[in-house]
Order: sequence, then structure tokens, then C-alpha cells
Amino acid sequence: MSDADSDELFSREDPIFAKKELLEINHLPDHGRIVGRDDEISALANALNPALFNQSPSNVLLYGKTGTGKSLCAKHVSRRLVDEADEEGVAVGVAYVDCAQDSTETQAVQTIASTTNTPETDVSIPDKGISTSTYYKRLWRILDEEYDVVIVILDEIDKLENDDILMQLSRAGEAGKLERCKLGVIGISNKIKYKDRMDERVKSSLCEREFVFPPYDANQLRSIMDARSDAFREGVLEPGTIPLAAAQAAQEHGDARKAIDILRYAGELAQAENAETVREEYVKKARERAENDRFRELIRGATPHSKYALQALAILSMDNSEDAFRTSRVYEVYEQVCRQMDSDPLSTRRVRDLLREQAFLDVIEQTRQSGGSAEGSYTEHRLLEDPQVVKNVLVSEG
Ligand SMILES: Nc1ncnc2c1ncn2[C@@H]1O[C@H](COP(=O)(O)OP(=O)(O)OP(=O)(O)O)[C@@H](O)[C@H]1O
Ligand SMILES: [Mg+2]
Repeated sequence: MSDADSDELFSREDPIFAKKELLEINHLPDHGRIVGRDDEISALANALNPALFNQSPSNVLLYGKTGTGKSLCAKHVSRRLVDEADEEGVAVGVAYVDCAQDSTETQAVQTIASTTNTPETDVSIPDKGISTSTYYKRLWRILDEEYDVVIVILDEIDKLENDDILMQLSRAGEAGKLERCKLGVIGISNKIKYKDRMDERVKSSLCEREFVFPPYDANQLRSIMDARSDAFREGVLEPGTIPLAAAQAAQEHGDARKAIDILRYAGELAQAENAETVREEYVKKARERAENDRFRELIRGATPHSKYALQALAILSMDNSEDAFRTSRVYEVYEQVCRQMDSDPLSTRRVRDLLREQAFLDVIEQTRQSGGSAEGSYTEHRLLEDPQVVKNVLVSEG
């Protein structure tokens, strides 16, 4: 083989992306690339501001639909706080907990303790093997020895198994667990109903301030993507691609994650087809993939029967002109799905419970209807997701 051939076998440069990391899921954009969140950022900064003077920050709860910048703003503001406090000679620490991953009290306290621990303490935080109460004791020691103020970010707080850790964190100061260090908690959720489930005492201390993040409109989504267009090589993005991706991501609600995912996938499709530019047709395909991904993520961990019930509702929605169905109709189709899957159906009552859980996840919506005196009242279920997406994902997962 000649030299020329081997040169062509591998290309040394990515023809599409210049800085793909700007579009990766965990990338935290710097200040100049955060668009349309000035009010939320200053409100959050205001709640945490006392930390700069070594006083207790307010506890905050952030709400808003998926992809509205909640996690981003919480991380951004707390990072800035640490830097500015440092200039003032105040030691501020931040512990970030993804409660979807650390859903038990023990896992969450372990994560907080291990991220705040420093080589200067003589405390060790093993991965496992010590009791929850020992983790707490070590955590309080670390915080008092090393910090004036600590901000704990509990992201996806609704995924916590119970309120125990919230109780501990919200009362650490008054219960005398901490002598020096002050704690502030930022709870984040995209379930507006979450607060209803919270213990009253926890609620009153944890929800001192609440902010709701509104969805982005198509213009904001466009600016968010424009601010990251240097992820692509010069001239690779065709002019219509970002506006189209913005319009598509704005359709259900303005989800910035979806917008960025669409852009990244469109680039990957262009790459896979050896295209020189990212064309609008790739954006359309990328949207399908982004939607499937998002739904797959939403139902991650759902039980098989919960998926069969959803599939039944998707089938009903596709085959009928109406979009809301009574439990008995969903159940009939659910039984057919079970037969296909060679699985014994659960009772109507269990299926009703499973549907209620999906309503909590905002996959479906339930409304009570009164059917007149003869019938009494009954529940109707309506799918909030595109039935085709639901079916694609559920069928592909078997
Ligand atoms: N205002 C913005 N400017 C720039 N990028 C943004 C903005 N808002 C969100 N993003 C980007 O969109 C993606 C989703 O944002 P983020 O993770 O903060 O959403 P979220 O509100 O926490 O959603 P979820 O409830 O699903 O966790 C991230 O990649 C983030 O960097
Ligand atoms: Mg988030």
C-alpha cells in the first residue's frame, strides 16, 4: 500500500465538528453562552448572597419543565459564588447530588460527604460499610472544619426515596449538629406536584424561596444554539439548520436540551454520511432521535407492565380520533398487548395504579369525568407524548 492510500484511510481532522464538547450533555457553558436566564440567575444569586458575608443563604426550590436550564443555572451560580466568596476570604463549598442516581438517604449523604471532604481533614468517607448515622457524623465534622458555608444542590429531588435527608439538612443548624458552618439547599424538580408530597416541616424550611423556570421560545432556543455554533467547523452548518432545529424544539415546549441534542445528532448524521455540510434533512431525522431518546430516558426504570399499559394508550390514541380514554378501554388493549408479550395481565386495579404513576411522571394526564347519576364518575387517561414516539420506543425495547 502506498503512502497516499494510508493517508486516506483515516482522516486526521473531524470534517464536521470543531469543538464537539460544546454540545455534549455534561458540558457547562460559560457565562457568555447562557441565554435568556438573567432574571433567574440574579434571583438565585440574591438568595445565596448572604453566604458572601458568612451568613446563612436561603433555601431554594427550582421548578420548571425539562430542559429549561435549572441544573445549569444552579451549577453556574454556585460556582460563581465559590469564586467570589474566596476573594472575600469566606470558604464556600458546593456539593452536587443527582438524586436520580443517589436516591437513598445513605447514598446522598455519602456523596455530599465525599465531595466536600478534603485531604486536610483526617476524616475518611468509604464508599460503603458504615452506617448512615456515621456518614452524617463525619459529614458534620468535615463541614465544620473546612467551610463557612456549604450549598447542597439536590437535583431531581423528587427521585429521593423519602424526605429523611431533607429533614437532616434543613435542621442541621438548629439541631446543633453544625457549630460553625451554615448550610443552604437548592432543590430542583421538573414535577410541579412534587411539593404536595413533602412533609410539612421540611416544606416550610426548604421552600423559603421558589422559582419557576419558564420554557424557552423559538428565538431563545435559536440564540442558545447560535452561541454554540462554533462547535462546528466554519461553513459546515447550513444557514437554515439552527432556525429549523429551534422551531422543532419549541413545538411542544421550549426544551433547550432537545434543541442541542438535535443539533449534535444532525452533525453526527452528516458525519456518518460523509456529507460536507449539515443540511436541514438531517435536522428532521435528528429530531426523531432526540424525541425517542428523551422518552426512553423518561420511562427508564418503568416496569414491563407499566410499559404495556402505556403502549395500550398509545395504540388507542393512534387508532381513534379522540385522545382521552377510560380505564376500561385502556385495560382491554392492555390485555391484548400482554397476550402478544406472552405475559399474564395484572388486575384492572393494578393497571390503574400504574397509570397513576405515569401521570406523576407527566407522561399521561388524568381527568375525572362525571358520567351522570346512572354512571357515577370515572377517570380518563390522555397521553401527553407523541403516540408514535411512545410506540417506537416501547416496541424497540420489547
Ligand atoms: N439559557 C441557556 N443557555 C444556554 N444553554 C442552555 C440554557 N438553558 C439550558 N441550556 C442547555 O440545555 C441543556 C439542558 O439544560 P438543563 O440541564 O439545565 O435543564 P433542566 O432544566 O435541568 O432540565 P431537567 O429538568 O430535564 O433536568 C443543557 O445542556 C444546558 O447547557
Ligand atoms: Mg436538570
